[in-house]
Amino acid sequence: MNELDSIVAAAHEAFARAGTPADLENAKAQFTGKSGRITELMKGMGALSVEDKKTRGAAINAAKQAIEAALGARRQALADAELEAQLQAEALDVSLPGRLREPGGLHPVSLTLERIEQIFASMGFDVADGPEVESDWHSFTSLNNPPNHPARSMQDTFYVDLQGDDGIPYNLRPHTSPMQVRYAHQHIKKHAGKATMPEIRVIAPGRTYRVDSDATHSPMFHQCEGLWLGENVSFKDLKVVFTDFCRTFFESDDLALRFRPSFFPFTEPSAEIDIQFQSGPLAGRWLEVAGSGQVHPTVVRNMGLDPERYIGFAFGMGPDRLTMLRYGVNDLRLFFEGDVRFLKQFR
Ligand code: DAH
Repeated sequence: MNELDSIVAAAHEAFARAGTPADLENAKAQFTGKSGRITELMKGMGALSVEDKKTRGAAINAAKQAIEAALGARRQALADAELEAQLQAEALDVSLPGRLREPGGLHPVSLTLERIEQIFASMGFDVADGPEVESDWHSFTSLNNPPNHPARSMQDTFYVDLQGDDGIPYNLRPHTSPMQVRYAHQHIKKHAGKATMPEIRVIAPGRTYRVDSDATHSPMFHQCEGLWLGENVSFKDLKVVFTDFCRTFFESDDLALRFRPSFFPFTEPSAEIDIQFQSGPLAGRWLEVAGSGQVHPTVVRNMGLDPERYIGFAFGMGPDRLTMLRYGVNDLRLFFEGDVRFLKQFR
């Protein structure tokens, strides 16, 4: 192999070894750069005769062209490889399913609250909302449960660092019952000066708090208060309304109700309301769902009404419990842990 052929072969080899465009340009410099091997040969031609210059020059040029052709081919190959790698890296699989945003949904207890509101609204009940941080008077005293009354321990709750005018700290309401007196006051004000005052018919759903925590009690839970007060409202009406509510809520007429004598300071007489499914997994067991009773005269008086004239009933039920029964959930805490895997089942 003559010298020029071996230079061309060396160039091929060097270009093939260059893995990147930068390596390739460095390799090129060794052959056709300022002091590359081909360039040096050209410089050395000055001493040759005219005749030799011709043949030598033609041979060197041929070698140079071969090297440039090899360089061009390698440049193209490297560019192709780079493009190919980029295409691979940025590949789009158009057959993949799109990334959808999952639809949100209401919390199961919210679904229950909506359902309760709908059912009672259909029976002519207003829906009221009130504060969760409540005065001692509203939470207890107005409900015939004065300071130091032993019945207060049934509703032990949390207190906040803020005193009312009576010098007693505000509390996180342990039940929705303070809404009875609050709503009655609003109702009376709204109808003041009119010839007659319509009956009070209201439910008040919301969050409530107690110092309690186990599988069936959470320090924060929900209640829904009910109140129907008029000149001729009786326990019979309570039975009809509550029975109707339960049958609509659980979508079953196959449901028995029992009113079990009990005690609450704000009602006399008082009763716990138990329900019993006649079929299904809970069939036969009596399940407590609400406290209730005829509104105590002291409470009616605290509303600003004459207990000789106004009479009615109240109840307080547990929407969390109703949700557990409706969906067959056995641990109340699941509702408040915020585990999406659990919650999305109710969407
Ligand atoms: N407030 C009671 C409780 O939290 C429930 C209750 C009982 C509400 C009787 C009432 C009622 O309105 O009449 O245990």
